[in-house]
Amino acid sequence: MIPHSRPTLTEEDALRVAAVVRSGQLAQAAEVAAFEREVALRLGVARAAATSSGTAALELALRVLGVGAGDEVVIPTYVCDALHHAVTRVGARPVLADACAETLSVESQEVKRRLSRRTRCAIVPHAFGLAAGLESFAALGIPVIEDCAQALGAIDDGRPVGARGDLAVCSFYATKMLTTGEGGMVAGPAGLIARVQELRDYDERADLEPRFNYRLTEFGAALGRSQLLRLDQFIARRRAIAARYRARLGGLGGLPPDAAGGRHVYHRFVLDLGRPVGPAIEALARRGVAARRPVFRPAHQALGPAGYAVADRLWETHLSLPCYPGLGDAEVDLVAAALVEALAP
Ligand SMILES: Cc1ncc(COP(=O)(O)O)c(C=O)c1O
Repeated sequence: MIPHSRPTLTEEDALRVAAVVRSGQLAQAAEVAAFEREVALRLGVARAAATSSGTAALELALRVLGVGAGDEVVIPTYVCDALHHAVTRVGARPVLADACAETLSVESQEVKRRLSRRTRCAIVPHAFGLAAGLESFAALGIPVIEDCAQALGAIDDGRPVGARGDLAVCSFYATKMLTTGEGGMVAGPAGLIARVQELRDYDERADLEPRFNYRLTEFGAALGRSQLLRLDQFIARRRAIAARYRARLGGLGGLPPDAAGGRHVYHRFVLDLGRPVGPAIEALARRGVAARRPVFRPAHQALGPAGYAVADRLWETHLSLPCYPGLGDAEVDLVAAALVEALAP
């Protein structure tokens, strides 16, 4: 079976993790601090704070922006549930926005439509590796958190994703653009990031302001640093895979946009089949290929409200094919051939 996703690990990654284990310093220290500096540099922001997950990063980003009980936060419905959970964890109410068929994230006009007196912030993901175009959100007059969980390394109108929002969050889960096993990061201005660093650690604080242990380990950071050295290689390979899929699947239509200007890093290779994807996923599985819906389920479908026509349609017709640096050309060809066969009349 060709898996849908897989981390890209080398002997050098293993050696760097082993060196930390041998050092005996396992909890947050110099490796974490170095990883934070390197990610901040890569994103072009002042400072970054490592966390135990992307979800923890989202929660702390909301908290340091002052989001709390009685506030509303606009988030897309067509995204992973982490966004909804982070907003409710700080006591705020998630207000769902419909999907944008072009960026697969949200449009600023759709966010604008959902604003109220209580809106404190919006979270805008760069969905599946495609830069969402943050520029148009500036006019909304509310803080924007850029969710870069799936798009580390993408370029949004000449600047790295993560550099334009009031804050940016990353995830380093096993199958993300680079991994620490589990982990995340909040990046942005020095003052806000210092607050994140303060809130991720409850130990020896004079006050009892709500805090939690959201720290990253030293061996996670060592793995992340080792992976970060190869991020450009990872992105180049993902783009080569996407180009190969595009060449072999051009006849199908519904392909993702090309990587022009660096805007796509293909964390996922998502096609719009224009028909329900269930039968194609089953047919691919019978041919030894694990394909998926790129979003498990839009949040509004779990909550009940109707009125999210674009998200409903994309969820029905979107297919995510295997796309990761360790996937070989022969495997790409096999997946593409299996899909063409599966869709044949
Ligand atoms: C867009 C987006 N944001 C946030 C997260 C949460 O990251 P984590 O799984 O590290 O908590 C994910 C995870 O898949 C994600 O896809």
